[in-house]
Amino acid sequence: MSAKILSGTETAKTIREELTVEVAELKDKHNVVPGLVTILVGEDPASQSYVTAKNKTAKALGINSEQVTLPVDTNEEDLLALVEKYNNDAAVNGILVQLPLPKHVNEAKVLDSIDPNKDVDGFHPVNVGNMVLGEKCFLPCTPHGILELLQRSGTETSGAEVVIVGRSNIVGKPIANLMLQKREGGNATVTLCHTRTKDLAFHTKRADILIAAVGVPKVITGDMVKEGVVVIDVGVNRIGKAESGKAILAGDVDFDAIKEKAAAITPVPGGVGPMTITMLMKNTVQAAKMANGLL
Ligand code: GUN
Repeated sequence: MSAKILSGTETAKTIREELTVEVAELKDKHNVVPGLVTILVGEDPASQSYVTAKNKTAKALGINSEQVTLPVDTNEEDLLALVEKYNNDAAVNGILVQLPLPKHVNEAKVLDSIDPNKDVDGFHPVNVGNMVLGEKCFLPCTPHGILELLQRSGTETSGAEVVIVGRSNIVGKPIANLMLQKREGGNATVTLCHTRTKDLAFHTKRADILIAAVGVPKVITGDMVKEGVVVIDVGVNRIGKAESGKAILAGDVDFDAIKEKAAAITPVPGGVGPMTITMLMKNTVQAAKMANGLL
C-alpha cells in the first residue's frame, strides 16, 4: 500500500479562499478590517520564518497585519507593556506572541496578559478552560488545523483509537482533549504518550490515527505502526542546510517507511504547518467579528 498524501497546502488553500471572501464581505458590508499583531522576541530562525509566514498570509487575505520584532534581551516588563498597548488598541483584534520566549521572560505571565478576546493563539487560560469544557473559545491553531485536515479528508474519528505522542501545551494536551470530546471530529478513544511512556511502540501499533508531536526527527519508525493507520506528523525538524542555504526539514515520523503501510499521511513540509497558519487567520477573522458584534 502507498498512502494517500494529506496535503495541508491544498486544504489550507481552500480554507484561505473561503476566508478571503469572508474578509472582503466584512469590509464591504460592515467596514471592518481584521487586525493582527505578531510579536517576536529574538532571532531564532525557525520562529522568524513562522512569524514571517503568518504576516504574509494575513496580508494576502486582506487582514491588517503588523509584525513587531524585539531584541532577545527585551525585559518582561517592556513586553507586558507592549501587550497592554495592543490590548487597548481597537484596531487590533488578534495578538500573537511567538513561542518559545527567551528564558528570562515568564511565558505564562505574558500569555496571561493577553486579552482573552484577542488571544487568537488560544493559549490564555480562559480559552484553554473553555476548550476543555467544550464551550465557545479560540481553538489553538495546530490542533484546530489537525481537526480540519482529518475532517476534510473524511477520516472517521468516532470510536477510533487515536494515539498522540507528545504532551506539549501547544499540541499534545489540546489535541488529546479535542479528540475525546463528544462532537463531530471527536468521540475518539485517546492515548497520550510522552517521554516517560514505558513501551511507546506498544501504543503506536494500536493506533488508527497517530499524531506525532515530539520534535525529534523520524523517531516514529515503520515497525511502530500498523497497516492502514492515518498519520499526522506535526514535527518540523531542521536536519541540515541545502546548498541554497534553505533548511532541510524532516518530520517526527519516518515518512518513506511509513507511507508504505499507512492509509494516509501528512508530508513535512506541506502538512500540518500551512494548516496552523490558516487557523490563525480563521481565529483573527472570528476575533474581528466578535469585537464588532457580528458573532
Ligand atoms: N510556537 C510554535 N507553535 C506556535 C504557535 O502556534 N503559536 C505561537 N505563538 N508560538 C508557537
